[in-house]
Amino acid sequence: MTTLDLDFIRSQFPAFGEPSLEGFAHFENAGGSYACRQTAEWLDRFYRQTKVQPYYDFPASATAGEQMDAAKQRMAAWLNVGTDELHFGPSTSQNTYVMAQALRQELKPGEEVIVTNQDHEANIGVWSRLEDEGIVVREWKVDPETAELHPMDLEALLNPRTRAVAFTHCSNVVGSINPVREITDLIHESGAWAIVDGVSFCPHGMPDISALGADIYLFSLYKVYGPHLGAMYINRDLNAELPYQGHFFNALNPEARFTPAGPDHAQIASVNGVMDYMEAVYEHHHGASASVEQQAAAVRDLFRDSETTLLEPLLDFLTEHPRVRLIGKTRAAGRAPTIAFTVDGHRSTELAAKLSEHGLGVGVGHFYAFRLVEALGIDIDDGVIRTSFVHYTSPEEIKQLLNTLDTIL
Ligand SMILES: Cc1ncc(COP(=O)(O)O)c(C=O)c1O
Repeated sequence: MTTLDLDFIRSQFPAFGEPSLEGFAHFENAGGSYACRQTAEWLDRFYRQTKVQPYYDFPASATAGEQMDAAKQRMAAWLNVGTDELHFGPSTSQNTYVMAQALRQELKPGEEVIVTNQDHEANIGVWSRLEDEGIVVREWKVDPETAELHPMDLEALLNPRTRAVAFTHCSNVVGSINPVREITDLIHESGAWAIVDGVSFCPHGMPDISALGADIYLFSLYKVYGPHLGAMYINRDLNAELPYQGHFFNALNPEARFTPAGPDHAQIASVNGVMDYMEAVYEHHHGASASVEQQAAAVRDLFRDSETTLLEPLLDFLTEHPRVRLIGKTRAAGRAPTIAFTVDGHRSTELAAKLSEHGLGVGVGHFYAFRLVEALGIDIDDGVIRTSFVHYTSPEEIKQLLNTLDTIL
């Protein structure tokens, strides 16, 4: 088995060589990852060489357009979807908002949508507000003990009036990786669309979206080593079926129908940086020749293996500590390294401040998974501590976290 070369990986992230960040351990990756050097280099190059309106004939403009097109093609290939099925918008929240406006026009009163209470609000509120149009909104609820979603509970909600189900690939608080294919199959059997939030999953390895069977799949590139952009897959047939949300003269252009906000050209071009990084990771560990599917699968495995090794000791510590309430699975299987917990006798906000004094950047609060934190009976004003890491995290940083937790708890 090839293991991740952490020295190589960390050499690709300018933050690890940044003097002002020395001694700081980044454990808020689920909020936003460090950017790889390739992203920063593409942004810099675009702003210096091609920061003009793209897609005209003059050289700087033509090059800018080519770079933007290449970014989309390369990322679409990595995700195993058509280039015309991938769209960039300002953020995932903005992308779900636009798609909800399309459903607002498409659905009829009495038809139903299902949301979960495990999701980030970006994949709940916009759909819930369809109630204004007489759409019935049902909630697929987590088990309040385990914080897990059970597909059989969804089955009980699905019916011939269900038009769409919005759920998360991986919760940004629970960390559980939901069985997306099993769920999308259930949804399709009942004739509805599956809208999947992949924001918390994708930093750990961008998936083969076609294999997941989602009709809409969303994620945020600023958590995947890239710029502050939302990426959205929309199934080609669904794109054609839903009412367009852009300018009227773009109504027949699939690539412009659901991105009414003008995209940030430099950031789109810099998605090439994320792809350069992914390819460099593959090449460094496995050599140069393989199909895109093979490269994507190999990089996912490298990330996953490295994260799993670091996740187990942290889970051991938290499950064995008598005053810690760990949210979600106690073992790494089926779990992302996004670990939320509360501690009896400590306010989460105060604990986060103490961890910060020890050079540890952790998150605290409800992370916009407001409904989930409430359903788990946790004080919404204080919330949970969230420690989240990715493949570039080192064993030393995990040790720093464990030693500090051991000292202050
Ligand atoms: C799971 C999840 N979904 C959606 C979002 C919203 O993404 P964006 O900030 O791109 O709107 C976030 C942001 O933190 C998230 O964690």
